[in-house]
Amino acid sequence: MPQRPAFAKWLDDTNDVTATFLAAGRIPGLVNLGGGLPGTEIWPVEDMTKLATSAVADHADETLAYAPVAGLPKLRDLIAARYSEGDLTLTRDNVLITAGGAQALNLIGTVLLEEGSTVASQTPAYLGALDNWRPRQPVYRPMRLEANDLDPVAAMTGAQFAYTVPNFSNPTGKLVNAATRRRLVDAAHHTGTWLIEDDPYGTLYYDDAPMPRMLTLSAEEAGAPYDGPVIYLGTVSKELAPGLRIGWIIAAPEMIEVLKAAKQSADMCTSGLCQQITHDAFATGLADDMLPNILDLYRARRDALCAAMDEHLPDLFTWERPTGGMFVWATAKDPALDTNRLMEVGLEHGVCISPSSVFDPEGRDHSSIRINFTYNTEDKLVTGIERLATATRAALAEA
Ligand SMILES: Cc1ncc(COP(=O)(O)O)c(C=O)c1O
Repeated sequence: MPQRPAFAKWLDDTNDVTATFLAAGRIPGLVNLGGGLPGTEIWPVEDMTKLATSAVADHADETLAYAPVAGLPKLRDLIAARYSEGDLTLTRDNVLITAGGAQALNLIGTVLLEEGSTVASQTPAYLGALDNWRPRQPVYRPMRLEANDLDPVAAMTGAQFAYTVPNFSNPTGKLVNAATRRRLVDAAHHTGTWLIEDDPYGTLYYDDAPMPRMLTLSAEEAGAPYDGPVIYLGTVSKELAPGLRIGWIIAAPEMIEVLKAAKQSADMCTSGLCQQITHDAFATGLADDMLPNILDLYRARRDALCAAMDEHLPDLFTWERPTGGMFVWATAKDPALDTNRLMEVGLEHGVCISPSSVFDPEGRDHSSIRINFTYNTEDKLVTGIERLATATRAALAEA
């Protein structure tokens, strides 16, 4: 048989932790602290069933035909209105509907990256973003947003874009403070570099009122439609349901136009049915009504996880209690602990965590782990942490 064509070179650059992680789903009785999934209890199944039925029955043209490339006009208008505040004025031309935040990241890579382009990225960074940009093999310039010596102008000069998750970052669960948000926005204005504000966790504040968005901070002229350097990414995945695959990009019209061209060649349009359901979930108040329950459930799970960690892990890891989001980031006290190995030993003990290497563009950081607290019940979280303590001691014993 003649030799088949080779797969693209960038595939050599992927990690096998993701494959191990996906296979872990099949282990019976496993407590999965490694994913980033919402608690399934939050889904309002009856209300969503009614919305889905009426979406088709009452809006067949919008739900069963191809939708416009940029999204249903009424959903773009609704998103523009939801985010317009203070000096920030948005119109439909500032909004592109995408198949989740994942597609938004992909489209940004398509329109802004050439092979070897520079990306200034909050570090550690969201694995899905790194995966989306991997085919272009960008060079990463790390930004530690919590470091006192951060120089955003130096980091952003010459970069195609800066990538940040200011609210409860994935993977660290950390919040970027107000002063740093302001400095990033000023640096974007100063350097001309696009500033990505990826914000899936922006509604998940458990203890305090939400901080200002960089999108809002970057609005320059009250009343004029937004034309600034921030590219804001939103999604329904954390506040409604990830299965809808609905997200949105808010940006200057010039950027929306090129992203729209990239989207047209990627998938023509996002499902009109899912856009209609999303529109109605916001317009009827369903999404806003769900939020208090989501916050109560996740706050209680965060507290249960942190209490179990306080009891079982203080001699093994250091961590900060997050005030929102879905994750705790824990760093091993003993530098001999290799968290890639801990993931494997954890699976033998019935618990799955995510190791830090997958969130490092260079894959070099083996010091930390990401623990999710939104998916499992409080009892399961406690069991998971007990198993993690045992697995960590076993991994240390063999190190
Ligand atoms: C930081 C970040 N960005 C984007 C996404 C993409 O989410 P989705 O494609 O479900 O909207 C996620 C999902 O976990 C995320 O954590």
